[in-house]
Amino acid sequence: MNQRETQPAIEEWTPGPGRSSSWADLERHAARLGAIHLRRLFDDDPERGRRLRATAVGMTLDFSKNHLDDSALASLLDLAAESRVQERVQMMSRGDKINASENRSVLHMALRLPEGSKLEIEGTDVVAEVHRVLARMEHLANQVRRGERKGATGEPITNVVNIGIGGSHLGPAMAYRALLPYVDRDLSFAFVSNVDPSAMEDTLRDLDPAATLFIVASKTFTTAETMSNARSARDWVASRVGAESAGMHFVAVSAAPDRAAEFGVGPRDRFEMWDWVGGRYSMDSAIGLSTMIAIGPDRFRDMLRGFHDMDLHFLTAEPQTNLPLIHGMLSVWYRNFFGYATHGVMPYDSHLDRFPDYLQQLTMESNGKSVTLSGKEVEWDTGPIYWGSPGTDGQHSFFQLLHQGTTVVPLDLIGFARSHSHDNQRHSMLLANMLAQSRALAFGRTAAEVTGGSPTTRTHRVMPGNRPSNTIVAEKLDPYRLGTLVALYEHSVFTQGVVWGINSFDQWGVELGKKLATQIEPYLSQGAPSPAFDSSTNGLIEELTSGIDHEEDQ
Ligand code: F6P
Repeated sequence: MNQRETQPAIEEWTPGPGRSSSWADLERHAARLGAIHLRRLFDDDPERGRRLRATAVGMTLDFSKNHLDDSALASLLDLAAESRVQERVQMMSRGDKINASENRSVLHMALRLPEGSKLEIEGTDVVAEVHRVLARMEHLANQVRRGERKGATGEPITNVVNIGIGGSHLGPAMAYRALLPYVDRDLSFAFVSNVDPSAMEDTLRDLDPAATLFIVASKTFTTAETMSNARSARDWVASRVGAESAGMHFVAVSAAPDRAAEFGVGPRDRFEMWDWVGGRYSMDSAIGLSTMIAIGPDRFRDMLRGFHDMDLHFLTAEPQTNLPLIHGMLSVWYRNFFGYATHGVMPYDSHLDRFPDYLQQLTMESNGKSVTLSGKEVEWDTGPIYWGSPGTDGQHSFFQLLHQGTTVVPLDLIGFARSHSHDNQRHSMLLANMLAQSRALAFGRTAAEVTGGSPTTRTHRVMPGNRPSNTIVAEKLDPYRLGTLVALYEHSVFTQGVVWGINSFDQWGVELGKKLATQIEPYLSQGAPSPAFDSSTNGLIEELTSGIDHEEDQ
């Protein structure tokens, strides 16, 4: 495949209101369907539950409990076509520089291309590169898992600590939890991200430095939190094994190997990633080294297969059966035509407890944008706020608002037919709760259906229903299905970004805060205000430092 240097005029990608016939159609559909209760849609069309669903790569997306009918779905898919989602994904897959503001290709799909396939970018076969790094990861993972990787004192490594933040933390931390039943229990794993010194200190308290390996995961190898945590870990190791040998306890994953070398990581322990992998799309690159050590190389490759199969599905399936496309277009539907500002993700599997956190970066760092690719202010809403927590826990806290509050939150409910537990009965209870929630949300309970109580208390028990949700089901949460699930969301986010005409692959919005923190830090350390700061910041500096003896601290 060849990389195309030129791209079509950027505004072509943004149909938007007033520029697109399907947009106007969708406004009419939304007005029409917004006035029809989901109960009625099901009453009028008893088969919709079997029709408005799609299955691919072992996953089913039931989208029947949405404000949708066949003609609205057709218009949504028209909007995707007008926005040229399919063409755009082809551009991404062949390495066009669709991350225009950083002039970069976006090639996370190349991370899971099978060995032997070819993708040349500027004269380099990136698939060969990916598999070269995978083989090196595999070597290290096997060494650690067999007890052959020794620390400076000759003790085998039994603790692995990933130091990273954002995309260099959330994916590995989420995957570790998601795949816990597959994790080698002779090893311990920890994930430190926050610059709060307590985060590192609490993690290290029970570990033996001589048996601990740190993975410093940072694409740039400059991120303040990660570098500060890495330095503190190095001091901790050095205090036990000596400064000259501390490097034996560190490996690095980075697109900046020189910086990793400067930090003291030898060539054997440096694992590359590339500028064409965004941090939030990197859990299947060497950033996933902790995952590979935890579950073993074969299962890591199963996960890559899952990603790849969903990629192929997204690239080739017809729109009517294309899971990520439909999922993404439903987000557009609720964001732009119903004005819903948030989207809840509720996995009915406690192993996915970190999945909503992971998705927050994937979705919100990608699509939290307000200028189009050409740099114009958008005239439509973009990325919704994603949030969530595992069911059934959420049911006993915030679900009250989802059922009876005045704010509507479209949901994704995620469940698996088979559990890792042998307690089938309790697993059935879990799944029954997932199905019950989707029914209660969609159909509610009318005043006539409320039994008992006085007329006044009965009103409190009416459930309005008419609240939309998708249900995503697969057989079992294993490495392969985790890959398909993450790739589903990656491509859903991509679809949304294309329709909104934004760049889903940069993140300029996080830069200013980093710069300001660097400016504030010296003043805070000194307990001194700055004439350059506002009165609130100076007042807070005073408040936070009054009573701290800075002389003594230094
Ligand atoms: O500040 C945001 C961010 O750049 C994320 O996009 C990224 O995943 C994270 O920081 C960590 O960056 P790095 O891997 O370079 O340390």
